[in-house]
Amino acid sequence: MKHVLILFGGVSSEHEVSLRSAAAVIDHVDRDRWSVSTVGITKDGKWYLYTGETAKIADGSWIRDTANLTAAALSPDRSVHGLTVFDANGTRQMRVDVVFPVLHGKNGEDGAMQGFLQLAGIPFVGCDMLSSAMCMDKAVTNTIADHIGVPQAKWLGVTRTEYAQDAEGLRKKAAAYLGFPLFVKPANAGSSVGVTKVCAPDALDSAVAAAFAEDAKIVLEEGIDGIELECAVIGNESPEAPMVGEITPCNDFYDYEAKYVAADSALHIPARVDEETFRTVQQDACRIYRALGCSGLSRVDFFRRKSDGKVLFNEINTIPGFTSISMYAKMLVAAGWTFGGIVERLLTLALEKWG
Ligand SMILES: Nc1ncnc2c1ncn2[C@@H]1O[C@H](COP(=O)(O)OP(=O)(O)O)[C@@H](O)[C@H]1O
Ligand SMILES: [Mg+2]
Repeated sequence: MKHVLILFGGVSSEHEVSLRSAAAVIDHVDRDRWSVSTVGITKDGKWYLYTGETAKIADGSWIRDTANLTAAALSPDRSVHGLTVFDANGTRQMRVDVVFPVLHGKNGEDGAMQGFLQLAGIPFVGCDMLSSAMCMDKAVTNTIADHIGVPQAKWLGVTRTEYAQDAEGLRKKAAAYLGFPLFVKPANAGSSVGVTKVCAPDALDSAVAAAFAEDAKIVLEEGIDGIELECAVIGNESPEAPMVGEITPCNDFYDYEAKYVAADSALHIPARVDEETFRTVQQDACRIYRALGCSGLSRVDFFRRKSDGKVLFNEINTIPGFTSISMYAKMLVAAGWTFGGIVERLLTLALEKWG
C-alpha cells in the first residue's frame, strides 16, 4: 500500500475553497490502494497533521479539533521523504510516497509549494514548479499564447513602476489599443480578486489601483463580449481534454460574488456550442497545456466571441476548484470518468512523472 499526503488550506485568499476541494479528494482516494495522511496549513501558515473527520476540514472547524492536531512540517531532507511530526514526547518521521497539494492560489498553485516538494524529492500531483509559476502569471501565459499563436484578447502588461512613471501614457495606449470596455487584472491572483471591468476612461485609475493592490504587475485586456468556456485537461506529456463546459455568470462578469457568494451562475456541460468551437477549445487547451509544460491537470478557460464566433484563450488554472460540483470534475464525469477515477489517475500521473 502506498502512502499519500494531502495538503489543505494554505496562506491564500482561496483557503476556504481549498478546504472543500481537499475534503472531496480525501473522501475519494481508493483506501484499498492508498493510506492517507492529511496536513492542514492555517491562513497564517502553521502546519498540522490532522487526524480528525473530513467533514471538519470542509467546514473549517478542523482547526478547533485540537485532540486531532499535531504540529508537523514537510522536511526538505530527502532522507525523510515526508513529514517531521512534532509529537508531545518527541519528533518522528513519516515517509510518504506522493503529495497531493489541494491548495489554490498564492503559495499553493504558484510554484512555491511545488519548488519545496521538488527540493524534498517527493513526487506530487500536478504541475511542477516552473509550470505552476508560469501558469499563475497572466502576463506570462498571455506572452506564451501569443508566441504559439493561440488567439486571445488584445492585452497590455504594466508594472507598478512603469505606471508610476507614465500613467497618462498608459491611459492613452489603453484607450487607443484596447478600447472600452476593458478588463484590468492583477497578473498573479485568482478568484477574480482585483479584477475590474472598466467601461469608461474615468474609471480606469481606480481599477488599476485595485489590481496593483494584489500584485506589482497587472494586465489590461480588451473586453470580450462572448460566452465563457472551460476545458478540463488531464495527463502528462500526452494530455486528454475530453470535455468543454460553459459558464453563464449570474453577474455582469464572473466576479468574486458570482463565484462564491451568489453562486447561482449556470453551468452547461457539454457547452452549447458547435462542433468546430468544441474542437478548437480542446485543441487550444492542449496546446497551451503543453507550451506551459503542465502535468497532472489544469483547467483552461476561453471565451467564444459573440460577433464572429472566434475562440479566445483567457487563463489557465493548475489546481482548479476540485469538489464534486466543481466545473473540472463535472466535465470529466460528463466524459465518463468517476471522481475517484480522476483522483487515482492524478496520483498515478504523479508517480509516472517523478518516479
Ligand atoms: N478580456 C476579458 N473580456 C471579458 N471578460 C473578461 C475578460 N477577462 C476577464 N473577464 C471576466 O472576469 C472573470 C475573471 O477573470 P480571469 O482572467 O478569469 O481571472 P481569475 O484568475 O481571477 O479567475 C472572467 O471569468 C470573466 O468573467
Ligand atoms: Mg478565471
